[in-house]
This record gives sequence, structure tokens and C-alpha cells, in this order.
Amino acid sequence: MEKIILTGDRPTGNLHIGHYVGSIANRLKLQEMGDYKKFYIMIADMQALTDNANNIDKVKNNIIQVAIDYLSAGINPNKVDIFIQSQVPELSEITMYFMNLVTVARLNRNPTVKEEIKQKDFNASIPAGFLCYPISQASDILAFGTTLVPVGDDQLPMLEQTREIVRSFHNVYGKEIFPMPNALLPDRQACRRLVGIDGAAKMSKSLGNCIFLKDEPEVVKQKIMNAYTDPNHIKISDPGKVEGNVVFEYLDAFCKDEHFKLYLPEYANLDELKEHYRRGGLGDVKIKLFLNNIIQEILEPIRQKRKKLENNIDEIYEMLFENSKKASQVASQTLQKMKEAMGIDYYKFLKK
Ligand code: TRP
Repeated sequence: MEKIILTGDRPTGNLHIGHYVGSIANRLKLQEMGDYKKFYIMIADMQALTDNANNIDKVKNNIIQVAIDYLSAGINPNKVDIFIQSQVPELSEITMYFMNLVTVARLNRNPTVKEEIKQKDFNASIPAGFLCYPISQASDILAFGTTLVPVGDDQLPMLEQTREIVRSFHNVYGKEIFPMPNALLPDRQACRRLVGIDGAAKMSKSLGNCIFLKDEPEVVKQKIMNAYTDPNHIKISDPGKVEGNVVFEYLDAFCKDEHFKLYLPEYANLDELKEHYRRGGLGDVKIKLFLNNIIQEILEPIRQKRKKLENNIDEIYEMLFENSKKASQVASQTLQKMKEAMGIDYYKFLKK
């Protein structure tokens, strides 16, 4: 089967290093492999609005920010079509038909949505659109015949919901029109759900515990120096815990053996460093400076590219406009197929 890749992000803030290891790194790999028919990255502004109805400016401003983040992180616009969700109106129409195939009880069981509802303090006032966003995400994926969705751990429930909709649509309407999409997760466990610098929860814009791709070097360093480690590791000689220690979680996600040769040649690899920390005698400052070197090495080229792109905003909007138009044509073909399968192509007997 032909490979069609689609993924996306909500434009509610700049992208951070959790996005980078969770999904962007895999997107770059896929882009370089090049063995796909189509590769879409969607800026999910409608999904962002499901809990930001009164925050239009935030969403609007972050559309271009996220587009710049993609391009500066190395997404190549000649290989990948970046487009804006709301500019593909067919997606909403598809969502409307899918809504009838999903129960409210099922939506309430979605673990990621449940966690978000807790975090956002919605209490009893959950917007209907928010509860339904997994259905709209299924439309994003299925409208383009997507087979592969590169994402982090937290998106697995959306993929599961999408797959259920595929089965249900095929069952109810008796025609197999959608390929079954699969998630592509990062190889390393630590990359699938990067913890925030506070160590309390996953890195998330709304929790304010992020290192952003656009952060200036001093800001990045400051955040790393303040990262949560092991509160019982007070004196350098104390034995330290590696589990739940943000610095080691980030090293698990970002560190390669080459980094030791460059920045910390006393150790051959991460296992040796962990072993020393556990034993005692290794201070937090040393591991934080090591981590800082690694993160700066990744972010520096991204920052440089961003500075250039910030002067080309018009061109980027032009690209988004053109790609959204093309995406709309593709989604419209899928919608047509759906209507045929459902038998709601009422005018098919009319002579043109
Ligand atoms: N839910 C994703 C996020 O929280 C954004 C998204 C919307 C998405 N539609 C998608 C991701 C389709 C992958 C595929 O950022």
C-alpha cells in the first residue's frame, strides 16, 4: 500500500523540545527517507479553538509561529505539504458524519481527553467541541487516506478512536474506503512523552514547563539549571536517583555516545554517568551543564534558521494558502466517496 503520512499540532504556542523528540525528529527522518506518496503536516487551528473559543488572537498568531517552528526545525516545504485545518472545510463535513458513529460514553473514556479536562479545570462546562475533537482528528487523518501518523504517546487514544471509526464506517455502510492508519512512535521510550522541567507532568505549553525551540541560549540554560532533579541529592557525595530526575530523563531522550567525547570525556556513555550519580560523588551542576551543551547544539541551527524565516512571513502564508487549497481538493474526493458509500449522493441520477 502507498504510504501517506499526516500529522499535526495545535497552534496554541510555540513548539518545544517535547514536540521535537516526540514527533518532529521522526518527521525529519521520514522526510529524508522519502518513500511516501504524500506527507502532510496540519496546523490544527480548529482543534486549538475547541478550548480557546474566546482566544482567537492566540490561535491566529500561533499559526504562523508553528509554521516557522516547522520550517526552522528542518521540515522541507518541497517534500511536505503544511496546511491549515480550518481552510479545509471538508474536514468539518466529514466530522459531522463520523459523529454519528461514536457514543458520548466513548468520548468520555478517552484517556488523553480525560487528563486534559482535569488539567483545564473545565468542571461541568466542557465545550462539546472539545469532547468531540478526537472525532475531528479522525477526519483529519482519514480525509487524506493516511496510513502513518508520527506522534507522541499522548496521541495513541486518538489513533485508536480513528481506527474504531474506520471499522464502524465500513461495517455500517458496507464499503471499505479507508486504509487503516497506524501510529509511528519514537524508538526511545523517553522521547514518547517528555516530562516538563518541573518533573511534575509532561512538557506542555499550558503548564509552563517547556523549553521552546525558539528560546534564546541564556533562557535555555536558565531553565536547565532550574530543572527538577532528586530532592534528596543534597551534597555532591550523596547517592542520587536517576528515575524521575528530569536531567536524566532528558539525557535518555537526547544524549548520544558522541556527546560524551565532545562534552564529558571522563565517561564513555550514559550508563556510566548514571552509575556514578547513583553511587554518589557527582553533582547536579555537572550533569546540567552537560545537558545544556547537548540541547544548545540541537537548538542553535533551529534558532538561526528561524531568524531568517521571520523576514519571509508573506511567503509562508502564501505556501499555507496554496497547500490548504490542494488539501481541500483531496479531502473533497474522500467526502464524495463517503457519500457514495452512505448512499447520500442524492443527485446522482440527475443528468448533468
Ligand atoms: N491532537 C494533536 C495535538 O494535540 C493535533 C492534531 C490534530 C493531530 N489533528 C491531528 C495530530 C491529526 C496528528 C494527526 O497537537
